[in-house]
Amino acid sequence: MDEPTYTTIFEPFRIHSVEPLRMSTRAERRGHVERASYNLFQLRAEHVLIDLLTDSGTGAMSRDQWAAIQHGDESYAGSPSFYVFEEAVRELFPFRHVIPVHQGRAAEKILFSAVGGPTKVVPNNTHFDTTRANVEASGALAVDLVIPEGKDPASDHPFKGNMDLAALEGLLSARGDDVPCVMVTVTNNSGGGQPVSLENLHGVRRLCNRYGKPLYLDACRFAENAWFIREREEGHGERDVRDIVLEMAGLADGMTMSAKKDPMGNIGGWLAMDDDVLAQQCRNTLILTEGFPTYGGLAGRDLEALAQGLTEAVAHDYLRYRIRSTAYLGEALQERGVPVLTPIGGHAVYVDARALAPHLDPLQYPGQAVSVALYEMGGIRTSEIGTVMFGRHPDGTETPASMDLVRLAIPRRVYTQSHIDYVIEVCEKVAEQADRLPGYRIVDEPKALRHFTAAFEPIR
Ligand SMILES: Cc1ncc(COP(=O)(O)O)c(C=O)c1O
Repeated sequence: MDEPTYTTIFEPFRIHSVEPLRMSTRAERRGHVERASYNLFQLRAEHVLIDLLTDSGTGAMSRDQWAAIQHGDESYAGSPSFYVFEEAVRELFPFRHVIPVHQGRAAEKILFSAVGGPTKVVPNNTHFDTTRANVEASGALAVDLVIPEGKDPASDHPFKGNMDLAALEGLLSARGDDVPCVMVTVTNNSGGGQPVSLENLHGVRRLCNRYGKPLYLDACRFAENAWFIREREEGHGERDVRDIVLEMAGLADGMTMSAKKDPMGNIGGWLAMDDDVLAQQCRNTLILTEGFPTYGGLAGRDLEALAQGLTEAVAHDYLRYRIRSTAYLGEALQERGVPVLTPIGGHAVYVDARALAPHLDPLQYPGQAVSVALYEMGGIRTSEIGTVMFGRHPDGTETPASMDLVRLAIPRRVYTQSHIDYVIEVCEKVAEQADRLPGYRIVDEPKALRHFTAAFEPIR
């Protein structure tokens, strides 16, 4: 008998413990956001109804992860929890050295303190904001070389996170001596959570071989990327995701990792590599900044939870649900005429705020305008990924980012379909009034990573 097929998006888990959500009125939210200087990072979380600010560290841990926490061994040195963690990482990413850190940016800081520096240039498909900031903090230049389709919100290229190989070759041949490593971010968060194909990764590897450069993955969403490869890249439809991940890892010399994403951690990360000399140097910095090499910035219990989370991250039932439920939100918005970046990414739906509010100049921050409106209208917290995040340059100048997006990031295993249906309704309401949204100006900003703390005011 044929296996029956169903179209319902099936959450491959049931709820075990619940957290209350706090309802609020529009008038209350207006007050909250004004007091937060129109910066959603400055809101108190209890004033948020549906929190789509980030998928980072906000996932629900499983019963087995909570059980694993009980195995946490808090020995300062040589904890068995470290070896459980190291083995789980090396089953997917068999690098010689695995260095635990408290989160992804610590791995970036340690890596670029060692290999960055003035006169250096670091190419990436698109640097995430903290990666760019850490490259630049070392004095190096961070260059984004994603394919042109990756900057076109309407392009339907299946692998919009791909590196532009001709541009990378151009950079390596012109400034090869200044490039300490090539990075590829999977999936490409700042470019819409778009995947990188295996074919493209092989192409990057070939160029790295030709120019003698190490390749590092920024692998936060490696499992989602591997699932897209399985679904979209010819010849991979029958493969186990673990096997695809191993092939991705085998093309690289090392990785930075925020374990707050696909590995289902509420905290954690690692830096891994094959290079013994560099690993030694990085461990020395680790001891100065994070902790002893068998715990990094983490507790033994965190290491145990991550080891278990890694096994759940590559389960096919989970990945099928994860990617399908993100697409559900994106497709519903498209049907209602809300412009979204396509194809729908893995961990988030990105609204094209520049297209939604074309009356706003990019330097009036359309992404900020739409994010604030989503909060006021329905208590939904999102994040701007556009000119606020990327517009200010180290020399003090400001230019529009290539896109002005609002990211609706979906925490893993947290919200149900009815929560998402509510989000769809709120987005539709904001879209109906988008031509009347005010732009914003920044009244106070720090030198770097301004989106976290800048103060805004509406331009009335
Ligand atoms: C692609 C990418 N790289 C690096 C980071 C930084 O990780 P963390 O927030 O754990 O420092 C993030 C976080 O969102 C990310 O999405």
